[in-house]
Amino acid sequence: MTDETRRRTTGAIRRRFDVGEGIVSALAVKSLYKIFGNRADEAVGRLATGAPRAEALAGLPATAAVIDANFEVRPGEIFVVMGLSGSGKSTLIRMLNGLLRPTRGSVRVDGVELTTLRPAALRKLRREKISMVFQHFALMPHRTVLENAGYALEVAGLPRAERRAKAMDALRMVGLTEWADKLPHDLSGGMRQRVGLARALAAGTDILLMDEAFSALDPLIRREIQDQLLELQAELGKTIIFITHDLNEAMRLGDRIAVMRDGRIVQIGTAEEILTDPANGYVAQFVADVDRTRILTAASVMEKPQHVLDVNAGPRVAAKALREGQTSVVYVTGPMKRFLGTVTEDEVLRALREGRPNLDGYVSTERVRTVAGDTAVADLFADCAQSQHPVAVLDERGRLDGVIPRITLLSALAAATPDEPARVDDEELVEAA
Ligand SMILES: Nc1ncnc2c1ncn2[C@@H]1O[C@H](COP(=O)(O)OP(=O)(O)OP(=O)(O)O)[C@@H](O)[C@H]1O
Ligand SMILES: [Mg+2]
Repeated sequence: MTDETRRRTTGAIRRRFDVGEGIVSALAVKSLYKIFGNRADEAVGRLATGAPRAEALAGLPATAAVIDANFEVRPGEIFVVMGLSGSGKSTLIRMLNGLLRPTRGSVRVDGVELTTLRPAALRKLRREKISMVFQHFALMPHRTVLENAGYALEVAGLPRAERRAKAMDALRMVGLTEWADKLPHDLSGGMRQRVGLARALAAGTDILLMDEAFSALDPLIRREIQDQLLELQAELGKTIIFITHDLNEAMRLGDRIAVMRDGRIVQIGTAEEILTDPANGYVAQFVADVDRTRILTAASVMEKPQHVLDVNAGPRVAAKALREGQTSVVYVTGPMKRFLGTVTEDEVLRALREGRPNLDGYVSTERVRTVAGDTAVADLFADCAQSQHPVAVLDERGRLDGVIPRITLLSALAAATPDEPARVDDEELVEAA
């Protein structure tokens, strides 16, 4: 192992561990403000009280695009920023790589404070750490796809051969190897966007900023490129800040989602957290139309299994459990708590009659379907219908995590499809108007 690889490996390991303890994240934003116009300091002072934007800035010749943003992004995470047009998403992302200078607050990239860097140091940091993909990615029309993909490396002054090799590699990742020598006008919109992605990947930076990168694409193409990004991400583990105003895109891609409204981040959480526990009426209304059965998982609706026995339990113990639990079935686990199946009253009686020391040989795998905890609720219906007893939810080691009785699934579904729109506080309606 060379010193360089050792340094990088330990660096990566250290980062991963530190983040849990809140020491170093890939990107950290604290009390960040961007005010356009005049009397910015006065505007910050008024906004810092938490007053709504319009009220705080009344009479000031200033626009508050980002107000008191605070968040940390973990290495390897896809962090989505979602919000309606004008909510401040692009302004926020442009402060993350220093394209816009914040009015107030801190941005740290890999622990380095970006807001006080001199221009040359900022350019270096951008070149080495952060790449950006925009919605309308400007490809240079007279250069080949390969040259476009390698553009950032050309700017960085890499020798031609190295540049081509890296650009070729990036084109392979996005599935455009065969188009390397074509010109941009030969490509479809989706392909051009993939060249934009390839350019960012060729730069080899750990952080990717993507501002509405897929928003101009047709729905089908868009889904394809989203899938491609997720596949690439599984392989590359980049840190991605992804901006979108599309809720479904946000839910599909985001490990966590920050919802912005009028310059403020109003909630940060996983798709599931935002759906099940929206921070306010605004967020609730925002997510009202989402198909919850696609977002909610088996783990989120399962219940604690009540009647579980080890396979070494004797039939008398099993009979007692059945009687006391007023149930006709118990779930049986084996070594390492792995789920084995179920036994019913009939089998327990048989084991008793036959004088068996334990339940071994009486456990059936037929009557209960098993699913993984991250199975979408939408995909549980068939299993629930075919399972005689509540579906068993297993963890990645095959241990019994929970059960889902049919009635639980049905009530989760009923809760997930409100027939009235989500309630919005009057105050919030007034504010939104
Ligand atoms: N250079 C600027 N000068 C003045 N105001 C600006 C400037 N850039 C953005 N703004 C204002 O800041 C607010 C946030 O704009 P921003 O472009 O960040 O929103 P956005 O969420 O990216 O919107 P969209 O979804 O339309 O891209 C808006 O009110 C906008 O008009
Ligand atoms: Mg924008």
